Amino acid sequence: NGPTIAIAGVTGAVGQEFLRVITERKFPYSNIKMLASARSAGRQYEFEGETYTVEELTEDSFKGVDIALFSAGGSISKKYAAVASAAGATVVDNSSAFRMTEGVPLVIPEVNPEAMAGYRAGGGGIIANPNCSTIIALVAVAPLHRLAGVKRMVVSTYQAASGAGQAAMEELELQTREVLDGKPVTQNIFPFQYAFNVFSHNSPMTDNGYNEEEMKMVKETHKILGTSDIRVTATCIRVPVMRAHAESINLEFERDISEEEALRALAAAPGIQVADDRAANWFPTPLSVSHLDDVFVGRVRRDYSRDDARGLNLWVCGDQVKKGAALNAIQIAELLL
Ligand code: A2P
Repeated sequence: NGPTIAIAGVTGAVGQEFLRVITERKFPYSNIKMLASARSAGRQYEFEGETYTVEELTEDSFKGVDIALFSAGGSISKKYAAVASAAGATVVDNSSAFRMTEGVPLVIPEVNPEAMAGYRAGGGGIIANPNCSTIIALVAVAPLHRLAGVKRMVVSTYQAASGAGQAAMEELELQTREVLDGKPVTQNIFPFQYAFNVFSHNSPMTDNGYNEEEMKMVKETHKILGTSDIRVTATCIRVPVMRAHAESINLEFERDISEEEALRALAAAPGIQVADDRAANWFPTPLSVSHLDDVFVGRVRRDYSRDDARGLNLWVCGDQVKKGAALNAIQIAELLL
C-alpha cells in the first residue's frame, strides 16, 4: 500500500533522481507510472525488483494516480499538470510553469511547509518546487531571517550543468574530452563553450538586464518567505561543474548579528550542515556535497565593509539534482501523505 505515483520525465536527470530518492527515503508507493516522450516509450527500467516500461505521457496517463511528479520542462507542465490534477492526482511540479501563479504553493519543506496545508495525495491541485538556486540559498538564509530579519540579500551563483538537464551534463563531459584531445568542441545546449569556461546563466534575458534565473531568485524568495520587503539582487553564472551549485551570499539584517549566533542558528536548522573550518581553510565544494541531501554552509563571516554588525557573508553549496530538485519534491510528496 501507499500512493500510486506518476513520474513525468522519468528518463531525465531529475526523473532518474526521483527514483533514487524514493529508494533512499523508503517512500511508500503501490505503483509507479513511468512517463516520458514518445521517443522513450517502451524503454524499460529495473526498479526495486520490478520491471517498469516507460509510457508516452498523454492526457490519459493520470487515471488512478495519487501523486504526479513532473520534471519534463515547463511546456509539458503547462500542458498536462491541470489534466493530472483534474484526474485527482496531486501534482508536484519541478518546472517554473506555476511557481509564481497565485494560489499555487511554492514550497521548501524546511522553510514554509505551512504553505501547502490542506493538500493531500489524491486530492488534486498543483504544488510548485522552487528554482534550484533559490532552494539552496533559502535553506541557509531562512533560519537567519527568522533570527534577525534579512533586509537585503546579494547572491552570486556558481551553477552546475545538471540544472539544464541530462544533455547539458553530457555536453560538459564531451567538451572536456574534446578540449583535452585538441579537437573542436561540440556545442548543442549552451551558447558558449562550457568546458574550461564560465558564463552568464543561459536563461532568457529580461528587459531590466537581469536574466530569468536571477529574477526567479528575487520573486521566489519573496513568495517563499512571505514578504516583498527583502531586497534581493542576484548574478547567476554557469561553471563547469556537474551537479552541485555553490553560492556566495551577502546578507544585511534588521539588527546586529554575530558570527557565533548565526552559526548556532544554522547548526540547529533542518537540512543544513555547517562546514566552516577556518583553521584548516576547509569549506564545502560542489564535489564534496554532490549526492548528499543537506545544504552545506561555510565561510560565515562578518561583512567588514559595514560600520555596524548587521552584515554577514556565507558560502553555500548544495546538490542541484537532489535538494535543488528531486529531494525537495519528494519531501513535498512526504508532506502529502
Ligand atoms: P525523453 O527522454 O523521452 O525526451 P532533462 O531535464 O534531463 O533534459 O529531461 C527531460 C525529461 O522530459 C525527459 O525525461 C524527457 O523524456 C521528458 N520530455 C521531454 N519532452 C517530452 C514530451 N513531449 N512529453 C513527455 N516527456 C517529455
